[in-house]
Amino acid sequence: MKSAFTGRDLISLADLSKREIEEVLQVAASFKKEGVPEELLKGKILASCFFEPSTRTRLSFEAAMHRLGGSVIGFSTSSSTSAQKGESISDSMRVIANLCDLIVIRHNLEGSARAAADAAFKPVINAGDGANQHPTQTLLDLFTIRELHGKIDGLQIAMLGDLRYSRTVHSLALGLAHYATRLYFISSQDLSLPEEIAESLRKAGMKFSYHTDLEEVMPKLDILYMTRRQIERSSLPEKVPFVLRKQHLEKAKESLRVMHPLPRAGEIDLSVDALPQAAYFQQAANGLTIRQALLALILGGL
Ligand code: CP
Repeated sequence: MKSAFTGRDLISLADLSKREIEEVLQVAASFKKEGVPEELLKGKILASCFFEPSTRTRLSFEAAMHRLGGSVIGFSTSSSTSAQKGESISDSMRVIANLCDLIVIRHNLEGSARAAADAAFKPVINAGDGANQHPTQTLLDLFTIRELHGKIDGLQIAMLGDLRYSRTVHSLALGLAHYATRLYFISSQDLSLPEEIAESLRKAGMKFSYHTDLEEVMPKLDILYMTRRQIERSSLPEKVPFVLRKQHLEKAKESLRVMHPLPRAGEIDLSVDALPQAAYFQQAANGLTIRQALLALILGGL
């Protein structure tokens, strides 16, 4: 039977309705509880096209494909591809589409994943395009929030750090706009949330506010979503980031959980890792589950 996902691209969180987000989360929950159908994608090939560095996203997509019985081709750096000779993303994708059943692409240019999807005649999943979007990260973030609190509606969620260049923040804000959450954006002025994301939240009727100090909002929070400074996308001078330490959590609710898409770059002190509030490694582990669900839906006709 064909699902609504069969053969589809996933380029932006905005491509998904709430019903579709819930479908992915539901399949992921059932895979996590009952295991995956190990032969579902037998004979299928995933092209893993990472023009930009990645640890979690690339390896969890590749592991997901192997776990579902499929196989993987690809590259983990643009330096080994014909991009070095000047080949365009579109030309590369037209060629690669002949060799596989689905393309996963990460690239430093905003809009690159959309360009890839326009050129390729196979489904394309955006694994991060510049500072724009990272939709599969958002699906695993939503899955983790529900796992941590048993719900998404009604939660008070702060995002802290580089809100201007973090694609995980941009995608997650759009994802949370489907739920009744209250959002707090905490950053310096030069790293504040882009206006177009704020406008989308206003249109969705979301309640949100801007802050420069975590202490102002800490006692209210259910989730604190930390981000690193995206130095690879910014010409702003590098500053010492805010570092979350054990003592900051003393003013938090006992049920507060700290998330981070990782990698971290010093903004969460290692002393936080052993605390019950630290949820970022659980979050990273859910990347495999969510990507298995997506591949099964898009390629496996679940
Ligand atoms: N969260 C995330 O995208 O991590 P990687 O850059 O390691 O894939």
